Amino acid sequence: MTRDASSGDAVHTLVTGATRGIGRAIVERLLAAGEPVVGVARNPDPTFPAPLICADLADPSATAEALTSAAARWPIGRLVNNAGFNTLQPLGSITGDAFEQIMALNCRSAIDCTQALLGGIRSARDAQGRPAGRIVNISSRSLLGRLDGSVYAAAKAALVGFTRSWALELAREGITVNCVAPGPVATEMFDRNNPPGDPRRERMLGAVPMQRVGTPDEIAGAVGYFLSDSAGFTTGQTLFVCGGASISQIHL
Ligand SMILES: NC(=O)c1ccc[n+]([C@@H]2O[C@H](COP(=O)([O-])OP(=O)(O)OC[C@H]3O[C@@H](n4cnc5c(N)ncnc54)[C@H](OP(=O)(O)O)[C@@H]3O)[C@@H](O)[C@H]2O)c1
Repeated sequence: MTRDASSGDAVHTLVTGATRGIGRAIVERLLAAGEPVVGVARNPDPTFPAPLICADLADPSATAEALTSAAARWPIGRLVNNAGFNTLQPLGSITGDAFEQIMALNCRSAIDCTQALLGGIRSARDAQGRPAGRIVNISSRSLLGRLDGSVYAAAKAALVGFTRSWALELAREGITVNCVAPGPVATEMFDRNNPPGDPRRERMLGAVPMQRVGTPDEIAGAVGYFLSDSAGFTTGQTLFVCGGASISQIHL
């Protein structure tokens, strides 16, 4: 069990975008392993199995307020920057508003959350007393290129830049920073952008070598590895969890 150096209390993992999809699977996996969790989402969810902070992470001042009060309440030593969204816009119809919104949630919120929690992340220790702070960013296979989704692709590519740079900045303190880049995963976001029956959905499935979408738990498994004590010598890495889509020659 990871503990906070000053209080000795069990370290909590804060998961953004925690109530549905990939975030929810990460939360359930951690809780099943006996790891305490704090979630963040905009809306309350009475079914959520852990403390939930309601805040719009696309709003920097709401984020700072919510995360600062969370850090005062729980010893948060591990962070999963999972909240994100995509709206498809082909080149020629990209609006400034959509650009700002996609960047605010997928990109800027990762900076805001990480900076707000850095003190607790620095305080996390494993059972041997070694530094054990962890940051995991959720990017997307789309970082390699996304038809009609260039702003999302750019935002998710930026997360790889953050991951590698923060890993360098924090390595001497024993804190790891890694990234998971999922391919298509069966969540509400995927269904919204690729409704059943839409040719886009069929084309996308055809481009995944495994010929199926992933499950949220398959992404949570990769996140769980990066959060674990076993991953203490792994930092700055991006792991594609995508049914082979990142090595396919067919474009999603
Ligand atoms: N699904 C895929 O195929 C796929 C593929 C590659 C990468 N990803 C990435 O994986 C991550 C999770 O995606 P998902 O498919 O699991 O999403 P999802 O099913 O749409 O769930 C989104 C979660 O984030 C919360 N959320 C949304 N906007 C928020 C905001 N402004 N502030 C705070 N919380 C917010 C939602 O709760 P509220 O609505 O209550 O706020 C919900 O808990 C995203 O970063 C996404 O880009 C997904």
